[in-house]
Amino acid sequence: MRLAVLGASGHGKVVADAAELAGWAEVVFFDDAWPERKRNGPWQVIGNTAALTADAGSFDGVVVAIGNNRIRQAKQAELAEAEVRLVSIIHPAAVVSKYAAVGIGSVVFANAVINACASVGAGCIVNTGAVVEHDCVLGDFAHISPNAVLAGGVKVGSLVWVGGGAAVRQLIEVHEGAVVGMGAVVTRDVPPGVVVAGSPARVLKPGSN
Ligand SMILES: CC(C)(COP(=O)(O)OP(=O)(O)OC[C@H]1O[C@@H](n2cnc3c(N)ncnc32)[C@H](O)[C@@H]1OP(=O)(O)O)[C@@H](O)C(=O)NCCC(=O)NCCS
Repeated sequence: MRLAVLGASGHGKVVADAAELAGWAEVVFFDDAWPERKRNGPWQVIGNTAALTADAGSFDGVVVAIGNNRIRQAKQAELAEAEVRLVSIIHPAAVVSKYAAVGIGSVVFANAVINACASVGAGCIVNTGAVVEHDCVLGDFAHISPNAVLAGGVKVGSLVWVGGGAAVRQLIEVHEGAVVGMGAVVTRDVPPGVVVAGSPARVLKPGSN
């Protein structure tokens, strides 16, 4: 089983490591910084996006490992257009309820928990130790950073970034493209595109994501 990972980043290393633990026998990287960039830690970088789409047939799966939500979205769309076989990667030490759904191209890392009846969109990152409680709904290309906690029934829009260690109260809605800063405690709905931070979370910036 051969996996191609697009995005030779630090995040990519975690994706590759999780993939190997999940049973992918061979993992190689592609990155637009190739040919200057030939390695990503222990893994080889063997081409750019064009090379990947040209050679996609020789891989059993392809996943995008780019932390920036919008770039990840654009790259996944490009690969989908080229009809590559997009897959999701779930670390064997993640706990994903059989009553939860995880969309195509998403990655779920060690110690993450996705509880019953939660739904994770396409191309999402549920990072190390993040908790997505029961009945949460994550839009496409959202990123829940390490140790962030979404309580039950939280709705996260597409392209939202929830920072490390943040906590979001049950039934809150974090609208599309918003950013929740590291360590924030979110007690009210977050409007689209704004950056909130602090405890309780307040708007830090009107919008940059
Ligand atoms: C919220 C965040 C997006 C803001 O980034 P930014 O727009 O570059 O903001 P700045 O660093 O310019 O900070 C602006 C102000 O907000 C404060 N601030 C930034 N992040 C904060 C946070 N998480 N909580 C409280 N205050 C914060 C800064 O101290 C600064 O205050 P000052 O103007 O009084 O000095 C960023 O700090 C953050 O928390 N990102 C998430 C990081 C993360 O979780 N990484 C894990 C990836 S896997």
